[in-house]
Amino acid sequence: MRLRDCHNFHDFRKLAKRRLPGPIFNYIDGAADDEVTHRQNTASFERCDLVPNILRGVTTIDMSVTVMGQKLAMPVYCSPTALQRLFHHQGERAVAAAAEKFGTMFGVSSLGTVSLEELRRAHKNPQVYQFYFHKDRGLNRAMMQRAQEAGVEVMMLTVDSITGGNRERDLRTGFSIPFRLTLAGMLQFALKPMWGINYVTHERFRMPQLDAHIDMSGDTMSIARYFTELMDPTMSWDDVAEMVKVWNGKFCLKGVMSVADARRAAEIGCAGIVLSNHGGRQLDGSRAPFDQLAEVVDAVGDRIDVLMDGGVQRGTHVLKALSLGAKAVGVGRFYLFPLAAAGQAGVERALGLMRTEIERDMRLMGVASVSQLSRENLRFR
Ligand SMILES: Cc1cc2nc3c(=O)[nH]c(=O)nc-3n(C[C@H](O)[C@H](O)[C@H](O)COP(=O)(O)O)c2cc1C
Repeated sequence: MRLRDCHNFHDFRKLAKRRLPGPIFNYIDGAADDEVTHRQNTASFERCDLVPNILRGVTTIDMSVTVMGQKLAMPVYCSPTALQRLFHHQGERAVAAAAEKFGTMFGVSSLGTVSLEELRRAHKNPQVYQFYFHKDRGLNRAMMQRAQEAGVEVMMLTVDSITGGNRERDLRTGFSIPFRLTLAGMLQFALKPMWGINYVTHERFRMPQLDAHIDMSGDTMSIARYFTELMDPTMSWDDVAEMVKVWNGKFCLKGVMSVADARRAAEIGCAGIVLSNHGGRQLDGSRAPFDQLAEVVDAVGDRIDVLMDGGVQRGTHVLKALSLGAKAVGVGRFYLFPLAAAGQAGVERALGLMRTEIERDMRLMGVASVSQLSRENLRFR
């Protein structure tokens, strides 16, 4: 199987599975507890049907959108994800470059493996910096200042992770940073020697967003401990309101689900919110963002930009979300499997397929621009 044999999400997933050691594949593919929410994220799109209009004379298609002041050539952006150089040695560099080619936004995680400054210098497309809230308020301010000085356009605070999710696949394989593999996990690495050769022959693994502030090397700090010891579970709306003020630019909350929280986000001056359950990796049993979208858009859609992520695998999923009122849609595994399968070429192919699907689907729906999509296009079963 080669990259040119990949025509959809499932093909990329299959190719990634062949190339990655089992523990790394399962870290990307897996989710919390019984992974019910993870499955529901995609299934929720299938409970909703598109109702096309015909004979509308659609010639040119404009799928561009403006979210939080950023003009995107397509309504899909690469949501921030951790540890990308573990999946492919090009890591965040590949994702940022591919996103630039398609004129869309990419997120850099505070658990990223390439520095936000390097990526900001190298690319012109809008960049989001994804951030967690630490107990140490000085550290929060220092990290925000760093992003501001680098010229990051949007600050995105992830609010669904005040503690780590229960990822049982990782417990079985021993996946953690630093690695603490079980014997079975080690065997899985031995079965994929090419991954190991690439890993040791490229730049040393680092987490530059955190390295400057926290010693993440050796045994001193693991990602699990980072979440349990450094995150602040007492984070409140007042804390976030203060951060929005300090940032003094486009600020977005990722992981909002309830209408009440969406209203609070609008009140404290957020430019946007992302309805998200972290790809089902945090609270299993929580509702799919697509199912929750309409009520949140109805409550705050006239005041702030409502985005969503989770389970998006097809152009039709994107059109359904936009029809309900989402301003743009984030993807995670949709670009991570292609990254693992083939680096930048993989991410470009995935985004290219997505763009082609959206364009074709808009034609078939009889709409020439995103603004023509509405709830009239949808029926729930
Ligand atoms: C391997 C992996 C790592 C992730 N790391 C982060 C992260 O560091 N910060 C964050 O806010 N979200 C993170 N996410 C969540 C994504 O940003 C996004 O919300 C989710 O992947 C969307 O679901 P999808 O994968 O079904 O598209 C991660 C997701 C995956 C799959």
